[in-house]
Amino acid sequence: MASSSYIAPQISYSFINLLLILTSLQLLSSTQSKSCLTTSSSKVIISGNSTIFSENRTFVLGFFNTNNESKWYLGIWYASIPTPTYVWVANRETPLISLESSSLEIDAGKLTVKDNRDSRCDVVWESADPNIDSEGDVKLLEDGDLVVVDARGVTVWRSFDFPADTFLPGMNLTVGQMLTCWKSSNDPAPGKYSLRLRPPDYGEVELLYGGDRTYWTSGKWTGNISPVYRR
Ligand SMILES: *[C@@H]1O[C@H](CO)[C@@H](O)[C@H](O)[C@H]1NC(C)=O
Ligand SMILES: *[C@@H]1O[C@H](CO)[C@@H](O)[C@H](O)[C@H]1NC(C)=O
Ligand SMILES: *[C@@H]1O[C@H](CO)[C@@H](O)[C@H](O)[C@H]1NC(C)=O
Ligand SMILES: *[C@@H]1O[C@H](CO)[C@@H](O)[C@H](O)[C@H]1NC(C)=O
Repeated sequence: MASSSYIAPQISYSFINLLLILTSLQLLSSTQSKSCLTTSSSKVIISGNSTIFSENRTFVLGFFNTNNESKWYLGIWYASIPTPTYVWVANRETPLISLESSSLEIDAGKLTVKDNRDSRCDVVWESADPNIDSEGDVKLLEDGDLVVVDARGVTVWRSFDFPADTFLPGMNLTVGQMLTCWKSSNDPAPGKYSLRLRPPDYGEVELLYGGDRTYWTSGKWTGNISPVYRR
């Protein structure tokens, strides 16, 4: 049995833990939660169980969950494959708690995913640059690219520039982009394995473990497909 003199350190340890948890919760809420009640012009693209299909119904955009859990993600998946096959996820690390109150909106120049429970309007994900005006047209293309086109017809944002774990035909992998696997088959949060162009030359592809350890490289691209095909 531990003597009573050990109780005090235990209490202070849990207390410090509690403080840490409270502090990180506060940090989370100050960085991730923004009230949208004050913003005047926002345009809802989809909400709840509504979806957008690509022209020939190859892909669909909407909110999904895995494992029947109360964790909802905005994503793109193949419309006709019976086993859900996701090719892109926006809020990979910040699931929404209820489907009914989830929405994708154009707000303050950004694409935003919001949790509208109790009118709280928490932003759980947003696109980087505020360059999307609320007149922007959101379309899901046949190749699975979610694009925002401005009033002049110029594409101002596309999901293909922000790949998740899937490389689709028509995408380009460029400097600074990375494909990262899911944490598990039920958790789209970034996992341990990624693929990118290898710096500093970017002349080959590499696979990474844990964000920075290379475990495979393709070798430099020489322009030859294979000596076998040479004449
Ligand atoms: C979508 O939600 C509405 C109301 O929330 C409900 O009436 C409708 O049945 C749902 N549709 C599907 C396909 O689940
Ligand atoms: C959709 O299918 C029709 C008929 O096959 C085709 O003509 C059209 O080009 C397709 N649209 C796209 C965007 O692929
Ligand atoms: C999913 O959850 C709902 C409500 O919790 C339950 O009624 C339903 O049976 C579950 N479905 C599956 C496939 O587990
Ligand atoms: C990929 O690169 C090609 C060639 O530069 C370009 O035409 C195409 O628009 C790019 N696609 C995307 C999705 O950026």
